[in-house]
Amino acid sequence: MQHFLTTSDWTAEQLDALLELARGLERRPCNDRLAGRSIALVFLNPSLRTRTSFELGMQQLGGIAIVLQPGKDAWGVEFRPGVVMDGEAEEHIAEVAGVLSRYCDLIGLRAFPGFQDWSHDRQDPVIRALAQHASVPVINMETIVHPCQELALMKTLQDRLGTVRGRKFVLTWTWHPRPLNTAVANSALLIASKFGMDVTLLCPEPAYVLDEQFMREAADNARASGGSVTVSHDIESAYRGAEVVYAKSWGALPLYGRPQEEWALREHNRHFIVDEQKMALTDAALFSHCLPLRRNVKATDGVMDADYCVALDEAENRLHVQKAVMMTLLGAGA
Ligand code: CP
Repeated sequence: MQHFLTTSDWTAEQLDALLELARGLERRPCNDRLAGRSIALVFLNPSLRTRTSFELGMQQLGGIAIVLQPGKDAWGVEFRPGVVMDGEAEEHIAEVAGVLSRYCDLIGLRAFPGFQDWSHDRQDPVIRALAQHASVPVINMETIVHPCQELALMKTLQDRLGTVRGRKFVLTWTWHPRPLNTAVANSALLIASKFGMDVTLLCPEPAYVLDEQFMREAADNARASGGSVTVSHDIESAYRGAEVVYAKSWGALPLYGRPQEEWALREHNRHFIVDEQKMALTDAALFSHCLPLRRNVKATDGVMDADYCVALDEAENRLHVQKAVMMTLLGAGA
């Protein structure tokens, strides 16, 4: 049984097949290939795009989606193995996964990391526990990676640029008032390197370089795909010649769980905002972001409203690619 936990488990050819299927679904959005099938969408964190696109996508394929928010409209869940459950959680992931597997054909989970201990969170233990106990395919709706966002990004770039191989992709850190999840940045690094892009990771200082497991995997991807991965702390040289600028804010991993200390690093870096002056240095680059985005904090109004901003295309593509993922996992993709 195949899950969609991370694109690391899928070959570039398999991901290409998903993207091709997504293009077909964009042209013909509705069919009944998943009639009578269902997905449980389990959200431990808020969402606009992910929830809407999965619910609507399943409906467009003839199936139904059931949204559950543990701790709000469903019982709180314990994910750790072997614990004495005398805290807040009323049931264990073993039963949650087992029950949802009896009712539904797919389970999606959003579970952001805990922001306490990165050595624990970097193992992606929550979705791994779900996949261990589920007897149906599991889809990652964002944990420490965001593979559905990766597919949407890649489809957007291919639609606009044709081949992406050899094109300069700048993944830029941006300022935000608090340290955020690294998931989308990890994912952008993985997918751009897997598809042969020349990736520059731009961040204020070494503390903002992404986890070594993703840096290493991106370097391996680049070796296999003919791309490259470099780290830069110099804004001007990073933007020069860029064909894609992708923005995201994230927290410094060496100070994970210590937001006050992290603030001392972060507060001086508001100038990493994506603005028209920086975009003018590029080679007529596209700009995108996964959304949500704080305007005039991460990117200016001028950038967000420019013709080169493809963030809404990327958000729309979430719908098409996730339908392709659901159909493929249920053997209805061919
Ligand atoms: N990009 C994304 O996953 O958006 P939501 O958090 O609104 O789902």
